[in-house]
Amino acid sequence: MKLTKRLQAIVDLVPNNAKIIDIGTDHAYVPIYLYLSNITHDITATDISNRVLKSTYNNLKKYNLEEKIKLIQSNGWENIKDTYDLAIIAGMGAHTIIDILKTANLPKTLIIESNNKHDLLRKYLNSINYTLDQEIAVLDNNKYYLIMYYKLGKEKLTDEEILFGKSNNTNYYNYLYNKYSKYPKYKKYIELLEEYRSRL
Ligand SMILES: C[S@@+](CC[C@H](N)C(=O)[O-])C[C@H]1O[C@@H](n2cnc3c(N)ncnc32)[C@H](O)[C@@H]1O
Repeated sequence: MKLTKRLQAIVDLVPNNAKIIDIGTDHAYVPIYLYLSNITHDITATDISNRVLKSTYNNLKKYNLEEKIKLIQSNGWENIKDTYDLAIIAGMGAHTIIDILKTANLPKTLIIESNNKHDLLRKYLNSINYTLDQEIAVLDNNKYYLIMYYKLGKEKLTDEEILFGKSNNTNYYNYLYNKYSKYPKYKKYIELLEEYRSRL
């Protein structure tokens, strides 16, 4: 099974034999890949939508995994009783991800991939005592995605780290510059970005 670069970057961060939950699994490509690659077989996949879960189930069936990967309908952690080593929450907006994080007895490690407002997420996760252990900027189909790997533990992030993250990827910062520098309302942001970029 060939994953997109975004999903490949996510699965590459999953430790061997971890007990994982994929919240908002949709197509379940991440669980299917993890199982078939023998990275881990202890996988629960969830989605809020019963309609989505019907096609998730059909995808699992295609790979004969419908008995191997647990599927649960749940809004965030609402119907989840078990505990996990790692949760993956990907492909959603920051507000939805934060709402999901608020309902949980969270595991010690998290892989988060939001499609917007990364600063908001960094700030929130920092406030609930998670350390941003790794942040990877992945270019997939001409668009950058940020994959964030969090571990339980306090850290003090600077304002710049909250705003620009820890990817240290100059190409990503150049992409942000090109995207936002044409809008006058981002003038302050662009000034900070230029300063940050020049120090890398
Ligand atoms: C765009 S898909 C992302 C699928 C996959 N995680 C990925 O990164 O490719 C988002 C999925 O999250 C589900 N979702 C949205 N809010 C949710 C919530 N509160 N709890 C669980 N699933 C949710 C949606 O039904 C949808 O299937």
